[in-house]
Amino acid sequence: MVISAEDKAQLRVLWDKVAGREDYGAEAIGRMFETFPPTKTYFPHFNLGQGSPQVELQGKKIIDALTDAVNNIDDLQGTLSDLSDLHAHKLRVDPINFKLLSHCLQVTLAKNLPEEFTPAVHASVDKFLASVSTVLTSKYR
Ligand code: HEM
Repeated sequence: MVISAEDKAQLRVLWDKVAGREDYGAEAIGRMFETFPPTKTYFPHFNLGQGSPQVELQGKKIIDALTDAVNNIDDLQGTLSDLSDLHAHKLRVDPINFKLLSHCLQVTLAKNLPEEFTPAVHASVDKFLASVSTVLTSKYR
């Protein structure tokens, strides 16, 4: 998949409004748990209720990791290497779940940033999340 110069420009503009919004991360995870309950099995040690500090912290971690990825979009492999090891070898998250979280992140962005989340930006974000997901699931075999 090719992330074009145009995609990168769209992503950068959008991400100015997303960086630091840990609440977007928490909303996306909350939507994932609610809509796709089997995803909860990866978090047996979490309190998954609304406003749970653990979900909020996990939301922050996800937004920060994605911000790091946006800032290093030309080296996703290197930037996400440690996270890739973690999700593949330690957490053993089934790759299908990355599509589910990506979907919930997009719903969250569309809802909170309706002006900015145009169809063209949507397409660029989709490519970005698919690329991040590919890297995070690249060490499974
Ligand atoms: C865009 C995709 C994703 C990103 C950017 C991401 C990012 C992260 C980050 C930054 C951490 C913390 C790592 C650390 O503490 O060193 C983490 C942990 C974790 N991730 Fe992901 N993740 C993604 C997808 C998923 C998916 C789809 C699942 C499962 C449904 C998942 C399950 C977990 C679990 C169980 C932990 C450990 C939580 C804990 O015990 O604190 N991740 N992830």
